[in-house]
Amino acid sequence: MKILSLVGARPQIIKEAMLNKEFQEAGITEILVHSGQHYDYNMSDVFFSVLNIKQPDYNLNVGSGTHAEMTGKIMIEFEKVVIKEKPDMILVYGDTNTTLAGALVGSKLKIPVAHVEAGIRQKPKDMPEEINRVLTDHVSSLLFCPSELAVKNLKKEGIEEGVYFVGDVMYDLFLKMKPQFKYEKLEELRLKEDEYIVCTIHRDFNTDVREKLETILQQLAKIGKEKKIIFPIHPRTKKKIKEYGLEGYTKDLIITEPLDYLNMMGVIEKSGMVITDSGGLQKEAYWCGRRALVVMEDTGWRELIENGWNKLAKQEEIYEKAEEILSERNKKYPSNVYGNGDSSKKILVVLRGIS
Ligand code: UD1
Repeated sequence: MKILSLVGARPQIIKEAMLNKEFQEAGITEILVHSGQHYDYNMSDVFFSVLNIKQPDYNLNVGSGTHAEMTGKIMIEFEKVVIKEKPDMILVYGDTNTTLAGALVGSKLKIPVAHVEAGIRQKPKDMPEEINRVLTDHVSSLLFCPSELAVKNLKKEGIEEGVYFVGDVMYDLFLKMKPQFKYEKLEELRLKEDEYIVCTIHRDFNTDVREKLETILQQLAKIGKEKKIIFPIHPRTKKKIKEYGLEGYTKDLIITEPLDYLNMMGVIEKSGMVITDSGGLQKEAYWCGRRALVVMEDTGWRELIENGWNKLAKQEEIYEKAEEILSERNKKYPSNVYGNGDSSKKILVVLRGIS
């Protein structure tokens, strides 16, 4: 069986890491294609090296652009690779423009598409990731769901065939890499366990409207006067802070470049809590036994809101809700809803069964 995997953005490299290893061990040929959506060393290459993933066989080098430019360019270049390689199956991951581009190319060429992290749904309906998820799920042949809720979401949209609840591949990777988590960044910044908060913000609805980003930074600055905040900054957020002239709010924050996976997990594991709009970090905080304040109106990882572990916050509520989380000591840790850490093995079993 020949598999063609398409990655492009940081979280997809993380999602692909475990499957890459499973395929190698099972002797399955996996051709790895990188779209080039993320291209900074800190957003891409470093993940290949710390997670020990083979170098991509193809890099489409599409870089940044508007949604249409990016999706279109990936489609044009990826189609050439698919025609040349003639895979039995195309694997796409998550919810980025790279995911959608890969799914459209595969389905139009009548090559089965497998979507890893299928069935996640979140408001608002017009956020780019939601558009990418819905469309990708509707053209995929195999839908690997990380949660029971994801299976239900698909059923509501009439998708039942080819749906498998396998758990979250990110949990597999988390468990595998845990013994190697690094604390270099903490040592460098002299941060001690529980005395600091980790914050990441990068969603377009938080960064691309000046007032929203200003409110977030005002709220963080208020917390920053009382508690240390480490803020590994996404290139989009960095660019917008500069463009809107909001640097003044960041003087009480510890701004760093994006961290590699092992250092990021080390930083979260010892933190007091996490403030984020990242999908992955909501779960990784939870696996680290840390709670997250999610700066979104809704999340695809709703289980963690319903069981009270994480909380949603509007931009102007960050200070108040972060205080609530910090004051609620000894919160009972909810049992795992994202599988047992064997998702990549389960995916392999399904792929073998159909080959
Ligand atoms: C993308 C995904 C998002 C995911 C995130 C993880 C889409 C629609 N969104 O968002 O779901 O959570 O990746 O990080 O696909 N930039 C750089 N260097 C890079 C990458 C980006 O400078 O290596 C800058 C560029 O100015 C670019 C902007 O960041 O225009 C946004 O990048 P883009 O890939 O469009 O979206 P992300 O915000 O990274």
